Amino acid sequence: MKIDGTAYRTIWRDADGVVQVIDQRWLPHELRVAALRSRADFATAIRDMWVRGAPLIGATAAWGMAMQMAEDPSDAALAETWQVLHETRPTAINLRWALDEMRRVLGPLPPAARAAAAARRAAEICDEDVEINRQIGLHGLKIIREIAARKAGRPVNILTHCNAGWLATVDWGTATSPIYHAHDAGIPVHVFVDETRPRNQGAHLTAWEMNRHGIPHDLIVDNAGGHLMQHGEVDLVIVGTDRTTARGDVCNKIGTYLKALAARANGVPFYVALPSPTIDWRVHDGVAEIPIEERNPAEVTHVQGRAPDGTILSVQISPDGTGARNPAFDVTPAELVTGLLTERGLCPATADGMAAMFGDLKAAVSGR
Ligand code: MRU
Repeated sequence: MKIDGTAYRTIWRDADGVVQVIDQRWLPHELRVAALRSRADFATAIRDMWVRGAPLIGATAAWGMAMQMAEDPSDAALAETWQVLHETRPTAINLRWALDEMRRVLGPLPPAARAAAAARRAAEICDEDVEINRQIGLHGLKIIREIAARKAGRPVNILTHCNAGWLATVDWGTATSPIYHAHDAGIPVHVFVDETRPRNQGAHLTAWEMNRHGIPHDLIVDNAGGHLMQHGEVDLVIVGTDRTTARGDVCNKIGTYLKALAARANGVPFYVALPSPTIDWRVHDGVAEIPIEERNPAEVTHVQGRAPDGTILSVQISPDGTGARNPAFDVTPAELVTGLLTERGLCPATADGMAAMFGDLKAAVSGR
């Protein structure tokens, strides 16, 4: 997508061969780019959320593996890098998917051939992500167009949670791709952006994206969605996912489940934008089987923002001595999901529906 007229991806390799990323910790107030050189840099960038969002975490891990192979292409380095990067964040399955994919390609090669092959595959993973998200957008566009046809020129109101935008992917975003496509096609859309405490990915990142692209939007507190749905102000919900199970349970940013419950109670369609690398074919019951990341309680007791003098700072909002729990994701059971918006089309959130649409991918994972 474009920032002030310049096309950006969230991750790229520069002319000197160095991987650069948009460092998301400073948005929306400052656009900073960070260079990632060592394996430790890549691990820090993922763990400390310089980059975030399931698809981008996967792409970053792939480049981390590629950079390490240029340093040391041995079997030991391949195994150790898989481990070091895999340990950075536990929930988004794209991390494991990308590392497995790199190991599948690199493992059979002689070490001398690994650096070039790794850079090639990492670049392909990035390009594939862009195309997957573009396709998700085109399929989602059909749904938005149908709703728009019933609204006689009034905007289609879409609620989204967290940031499943282009910043969470290499480009386009997953949940936002249908929105960008609809807006660019001249369909009037309006987006309710959940702020998404505690890290405020909605307020910091999705709002920034909408702003930059000129899409009408309003920031809402996480607790407002149910009220707006009760009053007919939301036509559909579209969220992303960090891991979707073989039967369609959806793990996504904490608070997604509450939105799904409110949507069901109010007859609002609830769609999940799902790139196929985010499917974990090895798990079925998302609540029981998906590890949920517990992050630093300081993310709950403090908030980050911009002071009047322009400095970005973190302030404490709770009393000294009050502890906090910070589960970063929750699971929305498949029965609450209206449909999975994938690169191959709209898929029912059921084991049969997913196997019918992605049988080849399911078989490939089972055969590994
Ligand atoms: O903790 P984060 O910011 O990495 O969590 C991101 C989300 O939950 C996104 O909604 C999800 O990864 C889908 S991104 C296309």
